[in-house]
Amino acid sequence: MLNTNIAVLVSGGGTNLQAIIDAEKSGIIKSGEVKLVISNNPSAYALKRAEQNGIKTEVITEKDTASFEKRLIAVLGENDIDLIVLAGFMRILSEDFTSKYDKRIINVHPSLIPSFCGEGFYGLHVHEAALKYGVKVTGATVHFVNEIPDGGEIILQKAVKVRKGDTPSVLQKRVMEQAEWKILPKAVETISKEISKGKSV
Ligand code: GAR
Repeated sequence: MLNTNIAVLVSGGGTNLQAIIDAEKSGIIKSGEVKLVISNNPSAYALKRAEQNGIKTEVITEKDTASFEKRLIAVLGENDIDLIVLAGFMRILSEDFTSKYDKRIINVHPSLIPSFCGEGFYGLHVHEAALKYGVKVTGATVHFVNEIPDGGEIILQKAVKVRKGDTPSVLQKRVMEQAEWKILPKAVETISKEISKGKSV
């Protein structure tokens, strides 16, 4: 069976990218391999993590969506990418793009979708909104990406308790540790395995 070639798209710190790299090393991810890390932010620390692990990187900074996605499609094609993982990627992809990669793009979102998701809900804002609402349980979701922001089919979810006195950053850290860094690698393996089956001769 041929391995699934994975591209991870990032914008910031890249702790979810790190979780994927670690899961590949420990054998949790065995059906796929991270071949490429793409960032829309040249100073993303995630790029350093990729370099430290010998993974090829690309930076795409085009401001307008059509030029950005044209370049993205070219880079994905040149590297024979089968699966695109959005791991803290802070740009919304157009329907033009997502329809070309049906069931081939997954995203991790730091809440239990359909709560606190969609446009404007990213990073710390998600946890601020959860605390403001007063939910007692939040969590993370891994889902397929389609034309609706955070609207694609859910693959995995994990709940995390909100504690008294939580600040957005304390809650963010707990959601990452207890949910995101666990369910994202798991989902990457599940989907890679599926794709690999289709690639076998
Ligand atoms: C993560 O919490 C991720 O779920 C979130 O941004 C953070 C990125 O951290 N993504 C979104 O909010 C997307 N809507 P990381 O760069 O350390 O992985």
